Amino acid sequence: MKVFGHRGYSGMYPENTMLSFQKAADTGCYGIELDVQLTKDGQLVVIHDETIDRTTDGTGAVVDYTFEELRRFDASAIKGGTHGFQPIPSFEEYCEWVKERDLVTNIEIKSGVYYYEDIEEKTVEMVRRFGLTDRVLFSSFNHASLFRLQQLAPEIPRGALVEYVDLGNAGYYCERYGFQNYHPGVEWLTEENVKNCKAHGVGVNVWTVNDMGVLEKLYEWGCDGVFTNYPGVCKAWLDTREA
Ligand code: G3P
Ligand code: MG
Repeated sequence: MKVFGHRGYSGMYPENTMLSFQKAADTGCYGIELDVQLTKDGQLVVIHDETIDRTTDGTGAVVDYTFEELRRFDASAIKGGTHGFQPIPSFEEYCEWVKERDLVTNIEIKSGVYYYEDIEEKTVEMVRRFGLTDRVLFSSFNHASLFRLQQLAPEIPRGALVEYVDLGNAGYYCERYGFQNYHPGVEWLTEENVKNCKAHGVGVNVWTVNDMGVLEKLYEWGCDGVFTNYPGVCKAWLDTREA
């Protein structure tokens, strides 16, 4: 089972920062999940929310700041600023860092609340520039973004993110629309739908799994991967289970 550090090692370190990514990588986990949005001047940045209020010491919308302006805010504020100043990473900075590492990156396109013009084009261009096409996976709650990504980079697999429901007949849905993976929220996933995905050759990567009892259940169901805020803990559990 593949373990992805959700926003890095976000259970212990400030989410979506280079520190969080490095700490996740140190656990030997399979991959890292991150979220991308666009600044006022069209730069790809790694941040979960459409605003900087929750995670940094600033306020306002990502799209209302230039990249240079955004870099002044401290993304370690979400952990009380106890990890030193941590800037919001550019996606370019992340790609530069990950290109030499043995990690798969799940790039979540945040285009469901605010639609950023050309976010898919810019993300694909960056992935290609750094030669990462065989080590990334795209996902989005906005399945129209996944269709756009399919047009732009059909060789890169896509995962359909779903929240609040367990999409009935998820395997059929994903196969029908060319999504290689189903990415359900753990609260809503049923074993029946895992079976349906398996029957249609669709992978199941589940978020956000921070409880080892739940991890055990998903493992038994045959899920392919999990996104967790504690990649070190999940990796250690799986290493024991698979030993
Ligand atoms: O990609 C899995 C997970 O990150 C989806 O939800 O809100 O944490 O981006 P969210
Ligand atoms: Mg995400």
